[in-house]
Amino acid sequence: MKREPQYLVARRGVLQAGAGLLFAAALPPLPAWSVSPDHYRIAAAPARARLAGPDRPETDVWTYNGTVPGTLVRLRQGEPTRLLVENRLDQETTVHWHGIRLPNAMDGVPGLTQPPIRPGESFVYEFTPQDAGTFWYHPHANSLEQLGRGLAGALIVEEREPMAVDRDLLWFLADWRLTEEGGIAPRFGNRMEAAMSGRVGNTVTLNGRASEAESFRTGERVRLRLVNASLARIMALRFEGHSPVTVAIDGQPCDPHEPAGGRLLLGPAMRIDVVLDMQGEPGKRYAVIDDFYDGLAYRLTELAYEERPPLRTHPLDASLDLPRNPLPEPDLATADRHGLTLQGGMMSGMMMRGGVMQGAGMMHGMMGMGGGAAWAINGMSMTGDGHAGMEPALTFQRGRSVVLKLRNETAWWHPMHFHGHSLRVLSRNGKPVPHRQWQDTVLVAPKEVVEAAFVADNPGDWMLHCHVMDHQMAGLMTVLRVD
Ligand code: C2O
Ligand code: CU
Ligand code: CU
Repeated sequence: MKREPQYLVARRGVLQAGAGLLFAAALPPLPAWSVSPDHYRIAAAPARARLAGPDRPETDVWTYNGTVPGTLVRLRQGEPTRLLVENRLDQETTVHWHGIRLPNAMDGVPGLTQPPIRPGESFVYEFTPQDAGTFWYHPHANSLEQLGRGLAGALIVEEREPMAVDRDLLWFLADWRLTEEGGIAPRFGNRMEAAMSGRVGNTVTLNGRASEAESFRTGERVRLRLVNASLARIMALRFEGHSPVTVAIDGQPCDPHEPAGGRLLLGPAMRIDVVLDMQGEPGKRYAVIDDFYDGLAYRLTELAYEERPPLRTHPLDASLDLPRNPLPEPDLATADRHGLTLQGGMMSGMMMRGGVMQGAGMMHGMMGMGGGAAWAINGMSMTGDGHAGMEPALTFQRGRSVVLKLRNETAWWHPMHFHGHSLRVLSRNGKPVPHRQWQDTVLVAPKEVVEAAFVADNPGDWMLHCHVMDHQMAGLMTVLRVD
């Protein structure tokens, strides 16, 4: 097999690991063979990875350029880029650049925006990222299985003026369902699961492996880019003894703030950038806990402090404000208003808090949804990954401001993802959302009503779907048209 460079990296030194420190999770230093930053080659191909730990068996995975997660794509804001995607799988694929505002033809939705890339063929994606921030990429064909077997990577668009931090780290989080033998559990698309929590796995990896500890030095300031690339697992992360400050959500800068209750709520496909002032004691360890699901809390990793004198005694005195991206501000006074109601799934009080497959619920609202659909939006179920002839649920006139009211009538959480646009989240259950939060993936709690606004400035047919992959496949998907 041809050797592919593991990382192709834009030429800029700021994101390198600090001198003399050895951190697996640091963004990789610039390799000598780095090709031009505006041209990437990404091959979707099978490979093997040691996900669960050094003493555990290897897993057959599908990867971008042979690694899990795939090649880190690092672009510069406002600079045109080309990404050549080769399909070395034995089935069709596409790549979707999640969260990037780009021309419709580059969005990677089979049938809707491009023909699928057949085995042995390739496709060139070309776009100029307008927004700096933390994004990711993944297939949009047979998505449940392709993402579930490992096809995913981070996409970072650098700010023109990087934030002053000691280190810029990426934690790419993924959730796997592994068998005893280390294989990926078969049978994607269980109908029961699809009507409940979706395929929540049993092994969470951080940058491609189950992590025992990540190294830090007392006094350093770290920018930590969290990506939840799980099929279905929602995360709520707590950093014991630390107070992360959220500086961006879904790649879009927000007013720096400490998250409610110190917990970072990260639905599938969401990203959160936090700044951490590492004030732990040298030699000590602090747990990072994910306790989203009742009774299923686990230790994601530990913050392990080196036995070294502090880097500094007071936190770095530098701004936590990231420069805003050029997002058009919706005009709420004149906006068109529409409602989108999420329907279906199983109903059960027992499972209301997002429990995972605990007992069977009553089938509810599933009658009348044809073709194996378990979910619907405004009474309509679109299933699969995207295909030709999908009629839009709503059509917006280009340039109009739009307010969408997302009403979750189901008993389940849904990370609702909008292609082509970022939305400003206005309110949740009627309560204003503070801190200027723009999102492409809006996590909606059971029975919650969320209002979000945007300017429909990007022409084309755009997917809107739940990013719990089983939910998308089973009908929680629609198309929004900007004319
Ligand atoms: Cu990240 Cu249509 O998805
Ligand atoms: Cu997307
Ligand atoms: Cu969902």
